[in-house]
Amino acid sequence: MPDSQHRPLRIAPSLLAADFSRLGEEVRAVEKAGADWLHLDVMDGHFVPNLSFGPGLIGALREHCALPFDVHLMITPVEPYLPAFVAAGADIISLHPEAGPHLHRALQIIRGLGKRAGVALNPATSPDTIAWALDQIDLVLVMTVNPGFGGQSFLDSQLPKITALRRMIDATGRDITLAVDGGITPATARKAVVAGADTLIAGTAVFGQPDYAAAIAALRAAGTVVA
Ligand code: DX5
Ligand code: ZN
Repeated sequence: MPDSQHRPLRIAPSLLAADFSRLGEEVRAVEKAGADWLHLDVMDGHFVPNLSFGPGLIGALREHCALPFDVHLMITPVEPYLPAFVAAGADIISLHPEAGPHLHRALQIIRGLGKRAGVALNPATSPDTIAWALDQIDLVLVMTVNPGFGGQSFLDSQLPKITALRRMIDATGRDITLAVDGGITPATARKAVVAGADTLIAGTAVFGQPDYAAAIAALRAAGTVVA
């Protein structure tokens, strides 16, 4: 059983569910409401079937928010754009192994630019994909929906994968974040944390709620597992 009660829980609201007509206000509000990180979903319309925003928008939000910026890149190619996301103010940059032929090199580039490097695993992607790159990884993002859209239902099929990754991470002895992304609600948050996650990414369950502080507190309470 993963030792979930001893890990601090991090809540990262996803900007994708915010009101795009007033993003500055939205990020200020979610910071005040107790968020730990801000999750930013970058979509290119061909790696995933949706378009969102790029480094220009992220850079414009940087001065409105002191939270770490957790940038989730759903784009291909990804390598040419990494410096622009660093310049925009990203603190953590995650990419998908399917985004290019050189995952290890892309991770090295991110770390060489002084940022934390993450890998996002689609529902059908095996944890084995990252087994030989773990020394270059600071965060693993388990997609509990197919990437591209907010508001989808959590895939319970991913829970054993979270537990397998927790074991892989613990065996390294390194500080690697294990995040879940997609369909997080208080009910699914608890399942993800019990399975081994330490970071909850939530769009609809925060920005889709009337009271952001109450929404973050509800996720935190649900994800605080006492053995
Ligand atoms: C989906 C994104 C998620 C999305 C989650 O491709 O990676 O971060 O914003 O949205 P919810 O929490 O509504 O499922
Ligand atoms: Zn995301």
